[in-house]
Amino acid sequence: MSNRKILITGGAGFIGSHVVRLLVNKYPGYQIVNLDALTYAGNLENLRDIEASINYCFVKGDITDEVFINELFAKEQFDAVIHLAAESHVDRSIMDPLAFVKTNVIGTAVLLNAARKSWQDKSNKLFYHVSTDEVYGSLGETGLFTEETSYDPRSPYSASKASSDHFVKAYFHTYDLPVVISNCSNNYGSHHFPEKLIPLMINNIINNKPLPVYGKGDNVRDWLWVEDHARAIDVIFHKGRLGETYNIGGFNEWKNIDIVMLLCRLMDQKLGRPEGESAKLITYVKDRAGHDKRYAIDATKLNQELGWEPSLQFEEGLSKTIDWYLSNQDWVKNITSGAYQQYYHNQYNAR
Ligand code: NAD
Ligand code: DAU
Repeated sequence: MSNRKILITGGAGFIGSHVVRLLVNKYPGYQIVNLDALTYAGNLENLRDIEASINYCFVKGDITDEVFINELFAKEQFDAVIHLAAESHVDRSIMDPLAFVKTNVIGTAVLLNAARKSWQDKSNKLFYHVSTDEVYGSLGETGLFTEETSYDPRSPYSASKASSDHFVKAYFHTYDLPVVISNCSNNYGSHHFPEKLIPLMINNIINNKPLPVYGKGDNVRDWLWVEDHARAIDVIFHKGRLGETYNIGGFNEWKNIDIVMLLCRLMDQKLGRPEGESAKLITYVKDRAGHDKRYAIDATKLNQELGWEPSLQFEEGLSKTIDWYLSNQDWVKNITSGAYQQYYHNQYNAR
């Protein structure tokens, strides 16, 4: 179908803006409606380059507002939903868990219910739920998360995402709602809010501020270039099997401290600093409560079934990411406003 009307939630955020851009440019016959509440993490500057496209429009609204969402579905008659809107930062979920229950659990249920009521005829309809590998819990030294791994969320964020996944599966089984879910590892790239590890470290290196490494820095994450995630969402949206889960990962595991060291080395070169200069900023701080040790994804199903694979080597991706932040300091200044300064103070000053 070349003329679908697609609702993308959270399209003004980090990953959402990459997904919106990809679909608007690649599928001129689609109508893309971007629904976003523009929380601290949502920023329409992320979409300046495509905002005038005739197949794109933005709607400001909250996914937890049931009346508003039901009216929007009744008015727009969407063919599909790609649901990314969420509270996404683990540290914030430790400070304020209920905000995560509200948006991630209730907001997802409100959208599912609106889709269920709106789609009397379910043919060619799809509710695509974008989720995280954190629902699977924490790994030891070995092993990988597969689509069969039992859910074992351990932070308020991952518990809220796990709950949202369960609601999506419940709507598939109970109401035959056509759904698909993907669970992805850590993304990095442009437009990433600087509360997350990689953009926070880049920003602090630029500004000669301490680099706060939690615990011993030996927690492991699998990192994926955000545009590769957007490509995976495109493939799963078009070819994924209904009711299925697809894991998405970069086959790219790193200890946090090794990433911070690599960023310091790359940035010393780019900023013309003596070798080893930025690494002097590394500061070990109190560990995150309930800090998951290791995430690692087995993305074989997505690769073998749908032919997707990551496109970029990590060092090249990090170098591009650093260049983007160096060239977009105004973007960083605009979003690291008063509210972010207060968050940063609460999160790091007493650590
Ligand atoms: P983000 O925090 O950068 O963006 C979230 C977006 O959702 C923002 O634009 C925000 O304004 C919007 N939003 C928040 N609450 C809303 C509400 N109540 N109503 C409408 N819009 C609201 O998040 P992200 O990193 O881009 O993550 C997007 C999705 O991908 C999330 O569902 C997240 O769980 C998932 N995910 C993220 C990663 C990652 O590494 N960042 C990895 C796997 C999965
Ligand atoms: O795995 C996918 C998840 O990745 C997504 O679902 C989340 O939305 C996304 O935020 C991310 O969660 P993490 O908690 O893994 O990402 P974060 O960037 O917050 O932290 C990455 C690692 O770095 C983690 O082990 C904690 C550590 N860390 C983080 C920050 C912000 C530090 O050591 N210092 C820091 O200041």
